[in-house]
Amino acid sequence: MTHTRLRHYLGMFPALAFTVPALIKRQPLNMKPIAVIPGDGIGPDVINEALRALHSLEEVFATRVPLEIFDYGAERWLREKVGLPPGAMEDLRKNYSAIFLGALGDPRIPDMAHGREILLGLRFGLDLYINYRPIKLLREDLCPLKNCRLEDLDFTVMRENTEGAYVGMGGIFKKGTPDEVAIQEDVNTRKGVERIIRYAFEYAKRTGARTVTMADKSNALGFGHDLWQRAFWEVAAEYPGIEAEHFFIDALTMQIVKNPARFKVIVTCNMFGDIVTDLGAQLQGGLGMAASGNINPEGVCLFEPVHGSAPKYAGKNVSNPFGAILTLELMLEHLGMAAWSRLLHAAVMSALDEKATTRDIGGKLGTTEVGDYICGKIKASCSIESLNR
Ligand SMILES: NC(=O)c1ccc[n+]([C@@H]2O[C@H](COP(=O)([O-])OP(=O)(O)OC[C@H]3O[C@@H](n4cnc5c(N)ncnc54)[C@H](O)[C@@H]3O)[C@@H](O)[C@H]2O)c1
Repeated sequence: MTHTRLRHYLGMFPALAFTVPALIKRQPLNMKPIAVIPGDGIGPDVINEALRALHSLEEVFATRVPLEIFDYGAERWLREKVGLPPGAMEDLRKNYSAIFLGALGDPRIPDMAHGREILLGLRFGLDLYINYRPIKLLREDLCPLKNCRLEDLDFTVMRENTEGAYVGMGGIFKKGTPDEVAIQEDVNTRKGVERIIRYAFEYAKRTGARTVTMADKSNALGFGHDLWQRAFWEVAAEYPGIEAEHFFIDALTMQIVKNPARFKVIVTCNMFGDIVTDLGAQLQGGLGMAASGNINPEGVCLFEPVHGSAPKYAGKNVSNPFGAILTLELMLEHLGMAAWSRLLHAAVMSALDEKATTRDIGGKLGTTEVGDYICGKIKASCSIESLNR
């Protein structure tokens, strides 16, 4: 039976719409596979729930999304001393539509050598120069600020993702002696700074945001952040319809807590973006609620929850899967699957409304039970409309 005829029959018997989609053979989507790297600690726990949600969406849309799972992470590093195997970067660049990562970090590798090779390696190697982090409050009672309404906390941070202090340039001289010297270089290039600033303005233009805020520490970092200053005001002049404003990073953190409603798009360097987005995550309800995308507008992009591997929670069925599920939502949106991401978002919203959540945000459920709820909601929302999308 063709889908068109099936839809016709379902139109005559709407109740069937809730059961029949599962019987429809899922058609593979004509796209390159998504590379999934569950990673370490709670990474596999939360990615598992996100993938179950994806499988429920596949049922609703009678479509199969091609996936490939990779074991890059601490276990493989300890076994083979390999983070990204030779050729992996090129393979990911050419043959995948997106990368979905859990988290990296393991107490057995205290210097995070594998994480640097895999995550920083992918960010730098695939030139994922935009770290895109929406800070959006989904329920008022999740915010630790007094009287913060949903509309008061809704901004996006564009963190520069390929330069700054995280490029690993520097060295240690006379290590372990009283005369030790450690130098960590902070790299800022005109190209790197300008392109993230321009992306922030383009994003503001596309989404109707009226302000772009740049945060730096140019009063103390007179070389690198002087470059940020000049690039920012020059690019801002090309966007007369968008207000450009500047804060020193210390003042910005204070203002985000005092009056988050004034911010719409914030652009900043790698290290300050790292810090300010954890602050934002906490205002959203905690690290378990925060999603991110590592974007190169011309290439394959990597999506990951903001949290780390939280090793003490690994395998204990306590970690909040919403960071990963909301990251899946961002990835689906990025892949042009807006109807899928909308359905997923609606399922998360009802879980929050009904407190079908983990303990970190006030619920009583385990990780998998939250996943069960999300899958159930997605499948229950299946309707003639969703079949017709
Ligand atoms: N992108 C990444 O992969 C990434 C990011 C940050 C840290 N790390 C690594 O992760 C390891 C642990 O780092 P950390 O403890 O500083 O940060 P973390 O984000 O792993 O955990 C900090 C705390 O936040 C809470 N938390 C985080 N995620 C949660 C979730 N999903 N549900 C409920 N609570 C959650 C927990 O209380 C946890 O102890 C380290 O090895 C670190 O280098 C990796």
